[in-house]
This record gives sequence, structure tokens and C-alpha cells, in this order.
Amino acid sequence: MASSPTHSKRLTKPFSLATFLVIVSCCTHLTLAAREVAGDDKMMRERYEKWMEEHGQAYKDSTEKARRFEVFKSNAHFIDSYNAAAGPGGNSLTTNKFADLTEAEFRSIYIRGIPKTVSPPGTGFKYGAVSLSDVPASIDWREKGAVASVKDQYQCACCWAFTAVAAVEGIHQIRTGNLVSLSEQQLVDCSTGTNDEGCNARDMDKAFQYILDSGGLTTEQAYGYEGHQGTCRASGKPIAATIRGFQDVPPRNETALMLAVAHQPVSVGLDGGNKVMTYFSGTGIYGAAGEPCTTDLNHAMTIVGYGTDEHGTKYWLMKNSWGSGWGDNGYLKIARDVVSNTGLCGLTLQASYPVA
Ligand SMILES: *[C@@H]1O[C@H](CO)[C@@H](O)[C@H](O)[C@H]1NC(C)=O
Repeated sequence: MASSPTHSKRLTKPFSLATFLVIVSCCTHLTLAAREVAGDDKMMRERYEKWMEEHGQAYKDSTEKARRFEVFKSNAHFIDSYNAAAGPGGNSLTTNKFADLTEAEFRSIYIRGIPKTVSPPGTGFKYGAVSLSDVPASIDWREKGAVASVKDQYQCACCWAFTAVAAVEGIHQIRTGNLVSLSEQQLVDCSTGTNDEGCNARDMDKAFQYILDSGGLTTEQAYGYEGHQGTCRASGKPIAATIRGFQDVPPRNETALMLAVAHQPVSVGLDGGNKVMTYFSGTGIYGAAGEPCTTDLNHAMTIVGYGTDEHGTKYWLMKNSWGSGWGDNGYLKIARDVVSNTGLCGLTLQASYPVA
């Protein structure tokens, strides 16, 4: 460069003060920006190391770790800018255990747990004749002892089994007074359909049908969760809960859904696949600040209550199966009566409950 004739020629030209100032301010600016990027990267690395430690995360080699760091960084930037835009007191996201997965990876692991179908017309709705004035304005089945502690499906897309079990745990406690943690693994191993649907899309009604046909579910303790489909080992294990049948809540009707949830926890299909929901945290209501959702059913959760917050925003209380580090200790409040017909995230489209 220094030897280029153009350059030497220019150097001989006298600088005006203005040019000098422009150059100085430009270069100072560049240096600062470069320093900020370097500092940001260092802070991000520290944040990543801390996250890895918190989540007990380890990788097979440094190449994989470097790749995961880039994914983490991108997710952290998304989360930080979302939180900055939401402002203090707004709904917030956090770098939870999913923070080193790309959106495509997250979806392929977790978001294919139910078939994308709307419930066919059901076989009766026992709560249809209940008057809205006869149900409470709010209910939280956790307070009534009908909800077992939050579980984790790990990397098996069997949300259908977790929500079916949660609904049976609920009605079993309501009927008997005993809260017993029941076995998802029994469903994953034994209610698999013809396509080995253990860790894949399966309808909750098929889980209820299996529980009905097989005579009941055993306990979590007797048949613990393994996170993958294996051979059915239910035979000889003690039956801890039985059902007499199951019904679908008439779809596209949040009033009907409320009548059902007023009586017991209900399994629902919904869209659980967007990034905002993946990282949602805290006690805010999903959807109250325009959080996105489609009606493409791909995940299932259990509605364990409903209510209205201090701002008058109505919500459903959802129990998920992504561990207690997700959402609000494993739960999520999601806006109620805001999207007519389908409900937010399509949660009225495939709702059902066991009858016991
Ligand atoms: C919604 O469900 C309730 C309770 O079953 C029922 O009374 C009402 O007619 C339903 N609404 C529609 C639009 O179907």
C-alpha cells in the first residue's frame, strides 16, 4: 500500500482540519465498535460457560462446542432483544435448557408429538349441560392437590403420553383423594399403535383408549420414565389408576373447555413450536402482549386451571412436560378468550379428558 503511487501522491497533499477530524472521529468510532464486539463475545462466552454448567451440558468435542456456542449466541441475541423490546414488567424470555438448539432442531426433537388433526365429533360431552354460572371464576387444580410435580419428556416427542397421564392423575385424585404419579413409560412402550408412535405423533385419545383396554396405569415408581420407546413391560405391575372412558371437548369453543376444566384437568393439543414459547419464562400471560402462535397442532399440554390476572387478562393455566426450568416452573399461562373459534395456539381444537 505504502508503495502505491496513488497513495504516496495523496500523502503529499495537505490535510484540511475538517478532513483530519473526520478521519479521527471515524477511526475512534471503529475502534470502539471493534472493542464492543470483542467485549460482547467475551461476555457471551462467559454466559455460555455458565449456562453449560447450570444445565450440565457437555459436548463430544471442541468443534461441536464451537458450533453450539454460535447457536447459543444467536438465541441469546434473540432473547435479549425480545426482552429489551418488551421492557421492564413485560413478558420475558430466558436462555433455558433449549438455548443451544436451532429452531429446526428444537422442532424436530420436541414438536411432532401429536397428529395435526382436529378432533372428530366426540362421543358425548358430560359437562355440556353445566351452566357457566355454576362453575368458579377461577380454578387451580394444583391447589386442590390434583396435579403431580412437573415432569420432563426429555428428547422423546411423547407429550401425548405426558398429558394423558396428567389428565388421569387429575381425575384419579379428584375421585379418590389420592394423588399418585403414574407411568408415561407404560404408554410410550405399550400404546404405540402400528407405527411405533412411542416417541412420535400420537393422539391422546389413543392413550386413553389403551388405558381403558389394558385395565389401567401403573405408577411412575413401578414403571419409570426412560425417554425412549422399549418393549412393553406392564404385565405383572400393579394397577394404580383406572378410567371408565374418555370424551372430547367440543372443538372451537372456549366456554365448553372452561366447563370441562372446572371439573378436571384436560389434555389439549396446541402449537408449541415457536421460538417465543420455547424460551418463555416467568408468570406473564403468553399472548397478552401479542406473542405469536399458529393453530398448527404439534404439541400437547394439560390445562390445570384458568383465571383472570390483576389487569383483567383471562388465562388458561397449562402444565407442560419440558421440566421445571421452562416457563414458570414448568407451567405457562396462556391468554384465554382472545382468539375466537380456535383459541390461542389452537388449544380448543383437540381437547379431551378421561372419565373415571
Ligand atoms: C359452546 O359450548 C357450550 C357448552 O357446551 C354451549 O352451550 C354453546 O352452545 C357452545 N357454543 C357454540 C358456538 O357451539
